Amino acid sequence: MAAPKQVFYCRECGGEHPKWSGQCQHCGAWNSLDEAPAPARATPRRPNASRASPVRLSGIDTEDLPRLSTGSAELDRVLGGGLVPGSVVLIGGDPGIGKSTLLLQGLHHLAKSRPALYVTGEESLQQVAMRAERLSCRDGELELLAENDVERILDAARARTPAVLVADSVQTLYSDTSTSAPGSVTQVRECAARLVAYAKQHQCIVILVGHVTKEGNLAGPRVLEHMVDAVLYFEGDRSSRFRLIRAVKNRFGAVNEIGVFAMTDRGVRDVTNPSAIFLNRSTESAPGSIAFATWEGTRPLLVEVQALVDSSSLANPRRLGIGVDQNRLSMLLAVLHRHAGYALGDQDVFVNLVGGVRVTEPGVDLAVLLAVLSSLADRALSRELIVFGEIGLSGELRPVQGALERLKEAQKLGFRKAVVPAANRTGTRALDIEVSAVARLPEALAKLGF
Ligand code: TYD
Ligand code: MG
Repeated sequence: MAAPKQVFYCRECGGEHPKWSGQCQHCGAWNSLDEAPAPARATPRRPNASRASPVRLSGIDTEDLPRLSTGSAELDRVLGGGLVPGSVVLIGGDPGIGKSTLLLQGLHHLAKSRPALYVTGEESLQQVAMRAERLSCRDGELELLAENDVERILDAARARTPAVLVADSVQTLYSDTSTSAPGSVTQVRECAARLVAYAKQHQCIVILVGHVTKEGNLAGPRVLEHMVDAVLYFEGDRSSRFRLIRAVKNRFGAVNEIGVFAMTDRGVRDVTNPSAIFLNRSTESAPGSIAFATWEGTRPLLVEVQALVDSSSLANPRRLGIGVDQNRLSMLLAVLHRHAGYALGDQDVFVNLVGGVRVTEPGVDLAVLLAVLSSLADRALSRELIVFGEIGLSGELRPVQGALERLKEAQKLGFRKAVVPAANRTGTRALDIEVSAVARLPEALAKLGF
């Protein structure tokens, strides 16, 4: 009898290889291939097995999907307005960031109106109960199950028909149909596939908790991200109380939406006015600091950008961006040199976004350069000033989306002056902010006296 066929899976992305190699051909990771038995070939379908017939697009009912609230307005917003029945949500994040805490609180709320099942593969029932005690969610109808075998979990789910099922975490589950170890790519994929199939069949909301690797990716196969309807990342600095949830994929809402939470001794709480916490308003204005208005998903958020410029003793001066893209920072410094004449070739440049926020939109460009210049010139900028705008390679200021909303949020928090791209001028007259709309970087610098 021929030996069972083996294939190799990448630990990082789940890519499949017929032979071992040192580098994954799909994602380029080194030494990440694990051997596993090849999946059994699916039996060919009977020709008449499927009776699916096409329907006309215009005939499909698009009534608003009913949504279930998790009891947290922030989490609901990131989800696009609540949980959609039959959807599968993957929540990733570093260990200890608060995934289990948040989900326990959410399920406790949901269990008040419908059956809910919390499956824990990592903690004992007593541990979960002790946490629930601390969160004041011991009461209610929420059911717990400490189990790792996905078949038994599904049996329990079929018997109880919960409206919501949480599997914490997907890496601890295993299925007998696959012989590889729990946590391996094949197991994670198999278990997730079983739960996804269950969710779709029974219109049950399934929430999968996933661990992230050192690199910050969801551990195990990236294929998980394709299988689920929404992928949320729980992030934040562990040393700070604040936590962000970011939607990186959402079939039922906006991506890049963020929810802001605070970790307290009684669980995770919504932060209703996030701009106030990311702005360092208590201290005196200092050189190298500026307020920036960003647009996250569907709402504005004000963040403080800080920079430090210092003469370097290195042949290649350092450029370090925390919360902003490193390559973008280098590019901006080149634009500053070519179009405004500030040479920083012999200076170390550090840029940091206060509060552990990460901004991925290029609208942060102008704020970064102004913070850098303010530190270089050792001159504090007005504390009443707010800026945003993308900077192009020829030194032009490009418009951002949601400019009016950003300015309104700034006005609410007491800002009185703004420097914005010229194309974002429309509608700013009505505001109680003195808006300077500029077309090019040198013009913006001149406005601020650089
Ligand atoms: P947890 O939800 O277990 O994290 P994860 O599931 O993402 O691994 O959160 C654990 C951390 O949160 C732990 O360091 C203690 C802290 N914590 C609080 O600060 N307050 C609380 O009320 C609870 C339950 C936990
Ligand atoms: Mg946990």
